[in-house]
Amino acid sequence: MNALLQIPTRESRPRWHLIDPDHPGVPATVDEAAGPATDARGRPVPRASSNAVRTGIRVLTRGADTFLADVERLGDVVAYPFPGRPGPSVVISNPAHIKSLLAEPDLAPSATSFSPLRPIIGPDSVLTAIGDRHRRQRALLMPQFHGKSVANYTEAIERATAHRIDTLPVGTPIRMSRIGQSITLDVIMSGIFGVADPSTASPAEHRLRQAVLRLLFWSTRSAAANLVQLVNLGRPEPSLPLRLILRPVDRSIQEVVDERRRSGGEGHDILSILLSARDEAGVALSDSEIRDELLTLLLAGHETTANTIAWTFERLVRHPQIYARARKAAIDQDEVYLTAVLNESMRSRPVIPIFARQVTVPWRFGAYRVEAGSVVLMSTVLLHHRADLYERPFAFDPERFVGVRPAPNTLMPFGGGNRRCLGANLAMAELRAVVGEFLRRTELETTSAPAEPASHRNVTMIPASGGLVTVRAVR
Ligand code: HEM
Repeated sequence: MNALLQIPTRESRPRWHLIDPDHPGVPATVDEAAGPATDARGRPVPRASSNAVRTGIRVLTRGADTFLADVERLGDVVAYPFPGRPGPSVVISNPAHIKSLLAEPDLAPSATSFSPLRPIIGPDSVLTAIGDRHRRQRALLMPQFHGKSVANYTEAIERATAHRIDTLPVGTPIRMSRIGQSITLDVIMSGIFGVADPSTASPAEHRLRQAVLRLLFWSTRSAAANLVQLVNLGRPEPSLPLRLILRPVDRSIQEVVDERRRSGGEGHDILSILLSARDEAGVALSDSEIRDELLTLLLAGHETTANTIAWTFERLVRHPQIYARARKAAIDQDEVYLTAVLNESMRSRPVIPIFARQVTVPWRFGAYRVEAGSVVLMSTVLLHHRADLYERPFAFDPERFVGVRPAPNTLMPFGGGNRRCLGANLAMAELRAVVGEFLRRTELETTSAPAEPASHRNVTMIPASGGLVTVRAVR
């Protein structure tokens, strides 16, 4: 094997998804003091390695295993050099350290210019903007994602779910991620474009759906996606291969926007809101701002929810007693247990394993000092497996959340602070409806197969086989 790809011996232990459920968990340090550094005190953060290329490959290929091994060796504040970055990025997982960053969004804004999503969704979306511009865009979109507005999506969620269940193949293994993708795409297309029923979509809207599906098909090939990501590493603008991949989607979005402008149609969908929005000077959003916003919502709301559905069933079919209990809860409309299952699924397998901020002033994390300009990565996988927060964190056990409201900054699948996932309410509504209906209407084969490893694609952590299940019966 290439020397670059050889993994040090400390990592030749079970991959993290196979760690014994009785393992005590990620060791936790107790020095919680954190915040902007007011004096010059503080030691430099311990470095995991000095070789950026090797670190990049290690993180890309071994994901959370790398961080778990290093936290045991070096503590819960560790610096990593990455290719194309001026200084090391620092990985943290102490809830008090995380809280210090989220409490100061102006001093620690989102590290969007370093996000691997930036070249795909562009500089002008709510996910990539910072400061006042971000505040304005969030204020514009937020009402669409409040509890009441989310209720408008119920019909689309139920129709899409019923259709997929009615057409499920019995006895053949299926990937729950694929089923989740097609349901969540219907839901988000309906929310964005106001197309309640995909069969009534205009030809341009239909072409956009196909273009997004092709983009997703490409991006679901992890090797190809990682290669394009490597080519783009450290560049905020898309490289040539990425531009070619994005071109059909960009073209279709523009077509739909032009069509809507021509028809002058007013609606309550997100595209109508973006088209009619004006700033204080009465200026409308530019086409590129609208494109970035639409693509962000299409992509952010789709893979994440679909793979959370996939992870949930990947976990359930490997735990027959919990699966039986969850089915009964779905039949009895026991929302408390179902929510506990979803929380436990997102705790043990967070689809976004890391979210990031960039400190604009020196910062203190416990005994360590981080220099201004550093990117700080908050690891949800580490946070969710800390020995001081969760008992037997490597066990899948929804009981831990039954009737329990998780303490702040201990369960963070949707990130937090002023950048907390805009679609969290919608995602939870989709998860409750889709997981609940599958539990009620289908009978899945349970399995003693080993857990599916995590595969990393762009910013997501997904089940390597897509959450493979076999349907025994459909009701
Ligand atoms: C289970 C499903 C989902 C998960 C786990 C998830 C997770 C996340 C995470 C971790 C962040 C970063 C938060 C931070 O930096 O603090 C985020 C941001 C975001 N998500 Fe989600 N998400 C999900 C579903 C959705 C849906 C359904 C939508 C919309 C249709 C959506 C739209 C967004 C947007 C626009 C942002 C950027 C917010 C900002 O920067 O202000 N997400 N999401």
